[in-house]
Amino acid sequence: MKPPQDLLSEAIKARKHAYAPYSGFKVGAALRGSVGGIFSGCNVENASFGLTICAERTTVCTAVAAGIRTFTQMLIVADSDTPCPPCGACRQFLFEFAPNLELWVANLSGETKFYRLCDLLPEAFGPDFIPMPAPKKPS
Ligand code: THU
Repeated sequence: MKPPQDLLSEAIKARKHAYAPYSGFKVGAALRGSVGGIFSGCNVENASFGLTICAERTTVCTAVAAGIRTFTQMLIVADSDTPCPPCGACRQFLFEFAPNLELWVANLSGETKFYRLCDLLPEAFGPDFIPMPAPKKPS
């Protein structure tokens, strides 16, 4: 399936802002909200390596901070030999907001691959497993 060109160009643009001085591996991502609108992000590394945030998660946080919580499509781009799929932590993070997400991964040579998030994270743990407290009655 052909990747959405608007997501591709936004992800490539965002990748240029990646802060990856330790790995040198820059990643960009773009996410489409269910009601339209595109949000983008890049990976942000840290001298305390474990604090690094992947491009997919910065992108979701940008969208949520803008008040958007449901998404239809994401595209991730990196300069890898073959398009690289999201890490396990990002799969889980994405599942919270977009269990039916359509996902394209791309490299800078123009190769792309399509996935559905539900296939990348089968039998997923998600919000439905958490019992919600009864809403408080107004006093
Ligand atoms: N990275 C991402 O941004 N997304 C992924 O799905 C895989 C890994 C980043 C994290 C780190 O900054 C660098 O790539 C190397 O792992």
